[in-house]
Amino acid sequence: MWGHLNNKKNTYSMLQYNIDLNGKTILVTGAAGFIGSNLVKRLLNDFEPIKVIGIDSITDYYDVRLKQERLKEVEGLSKDWTFIKGNIADKALIEQVFSENRRNRQTLWGEYTEANPKLLLNGT
Ligand SMILES: NC(=O)c1ccc[n+]([C@@H]2O[C@H](COP(=O)([O-])OP(=O)(O)OC[C@H]3O[C@@H](n4cnc5c(N)ncnc54)[C@H](O)[C@@H]3O)[C@@H](O)[C@H]2O)c1
Repeated sequence: MWGHLNNKKNTYSMLQYNIDLNGKTILVTGAAGFIGSNLVKRLLNDFEPIKVIGIDSITDYYDVRLKQERLKEVEGLSKDWTFIKGNIADKALIEQVFSENRRNRQTLWGEYTEANPKLLLNGT
């Protein structure tokens, strides 16, 4: 009914994926925000293996405790998740994230088929 599903977990999902993210490393910006945090949860629940890196500067546009709660929920999933508190306009920081994951591709080969962030998903 929902067309081709990429993996078993997606059987329970109403969402049809047209991309296979298994084995990928994904950088999600605005990861503590409404859209970003929900995206992070979906990625971690629906793909295996997957490594998700979230970045968020935790702006105080609204109550930051809400963002902290969202991050706690994601942490509670006990998946391959890394959170970085930082600004996506910080070029040096973003370059560091990419270069560290490029290095991982060599050192963790076998654990991840691709550890270099391939997709930047934007929730900012
Ligand atoms: N929520 C909706 O229904 C909706 C609908 C359509 C479009 N959008 C757009 O999607 C985006 C995200 O929406 P949301 O509801 O998740 O907002 P949100 O405010 O809950 O999340 C945005 C997150 O981005 C972070 N952020 C902002 N600037 C940053 C920076 N420079 N570096 C790192 N992190 C930064 C904030 O701290 C925040 O946690 C917005 O651009 C919004 O306009 C949202």
